[in-house]
Amino acid sequence: MGELRHLINITDLSVKELDHLMTVADDIIAHPEKYQDACAHKKLATLFFEPSTRTRLSFTAAMMELGGNVLGFASADTSSSKKGESVSDTIIMAGCYADIIAMRHPKEGAPVVGAVKSSVPIINAGDGGHFHPTQTLTDLMTIHRKKGEIGNFTVGLCGDLKYGRTVHSLIEALLRYKGIKYYLIAPEELRLPGYIREMLDEAGVEWHEVESLDEAIPELDILYMTRIQQERFPSWEEYEKLKDSFILTRAMLKPAKEDMIIMHPLPRVNEIDVDVDDDPRACYFYQALMGKYIRMALILYLLGIK
Ligand code: NCD
Repeated sequence: MGELRHLINITDLSVKELDHLMTVADDIIAHPEKYQDACAHKKLATLFFEPSTRTRLSFTAAMMELGGNVLGFASADTSSSKKGESVSDTIIMAGCYADIIAMRHPKEGAPVVGAVKSSVPIINAGDGGHFHPTQTLTDLMTIHRKKGEIGNFTVGLCGDLKYGRTVHSLIEALLRYKGIKYYLIAPEELRLPGYIREMLDEAGVEWHEVESLDEAIPELDILYMTRIQQERFPSWEEYEKLKDSFILTRAMLKPAKEDMIIMHPLPRVNEIDVDVDDDPRACYFYQALMGKYIRMALILYLLGIK
């Protein structure tokens, strides 16, 4: 048995390991048949204490395409956490049945607690407004496939930068690559948390905070749109006030670069008009597809399967 590895935060993986995962994912895309039995007789538990569609389905599809099996629950209501079971106990128990666990929890830090006593690898599939490392893997894979290189571009992150965990993890990952400029596009109330702004400062990168999407669009190579995270708002009124802060329309794309890519972790609510879907620059559904391949690579890696 090799060393037990978890993925809690994207920085748990070195840049070299990220490169390795993307190389494996490229190979899976090119030769899926080589991998179809790679996880035969292995089981993935998906423990989702908070709702999800893409992340849970893509983990499930990933394990199935590797020839493995999947068990788990899709909401806290259908698990024993409703009876008061601790996260740690649920994880120890799941480790008796599965070889690897993907968990999502509304509380920041829950996967760290879960990992302490786990006998199998834990993958953080999103913890509250904190981190979402496998979405970042998905995002990096998309950038790698569409842009050829991770680095030397200008990225605009737009929407709910305060509660949007995908943005937090993505910035942490991108800070390890060179030549990236950042436009943070959000209303004052939904600015990026201070600790991440400090990370940008410490890294000495060029970054701008703006409140208008139109102002930033002509500069961008990548536009990363996000949903306003209604479930993390202290009140409904607060959400109502900010929910339609940004809506990307086809007309707004006129001054954008021809090879700019539009990303979104999904689900989308209103922030991208459906008219944009047919624009060749829109790649959010492609991004969802990449999520399956990179999760396949991650499962193989954490299980130590060559
Ligand atoms: C994101 C999440 O759960 O944080 N969704 C996802 O995993 N693709 C983004 C969101 O919910 O807005």
